[in-house]
Amino acid sequence: MTSENMPLDYRFSKVLFTKEDIDKAAQRIAKLIDDEYKNTDKIPVFVVVLKGAVMWAGDLLRHIQSDLEIDFMNISSYHGGTKSSENIELISQLSTDVEDRDVLIIEDIVDTGLSLAFLKDLFIKEMGASSARVITMLDKKAIRKADVEVEFAGFEIDDVFIVGYGLDYKEIWRNIPFVGVINPEVI
Ligand code: IMP
Ligand code: MG
Repeated sequence: MTSENMPLDYRFSKVLFTKEDIDKAAQRIAKLIDDEYKNTDKIPVFVVVLKGAVMWAGDLLRHIQSDLEIDFMNISSYHGGTKSSENIELISQLSTDVEDRDVLIIEDIVDTGLSLAFLKDLFIKEMGASSARVITMLDKKAIRKADVEVEFAGFEIDDVFIVGYGLDYKEIWRNIPFVGVINPEVI
């Protein structure tokens, strides 16, 4: 196939979730958050886990009406391929003091759960947060290695490598406006 006659999405064998599907999931979870915080004077801290959670965080946060703070943390666990790594590297820290605060971790995907377990421990044990829960776009339940609770999930998916909507393969395709399965012929 030449680049001229390739359909635009030759890169993907399947679209799993469109941006409309994702927005609906964001709306559903935002409502749960609003119901919990609307009559309280608590201001939770939403921590967006870079880079993958950026698009999902944008959708989710736009639907939440309660007062909140946003911060970012960059961790790396994949190192480029299609298998999770067990070594989690903290690339950049929070700039917010989360002591005695509710932390809501915004993640793109929980796969082995090792990154999430690392983050929950960091917020609770090292930073003294009063709670650390996760709002993940996708939950790949089947291959969990860490015993960690996933409080809010947009969708549960099987063990298939997906990209788009923030998720990458070797740092590319984060900008694709849907969650898709890679065409095995292109990797
Ligand atoms: P963990 O295995 O739960 O620690 O997940 C680590 C990270 O791996 C996630 O935050 C994603 O950035 C990445 N990841 C896991 N599964 C996929 C996938 O199917 N596609 C792209 N990235 C993934
Ligand atoms: Mg990630």
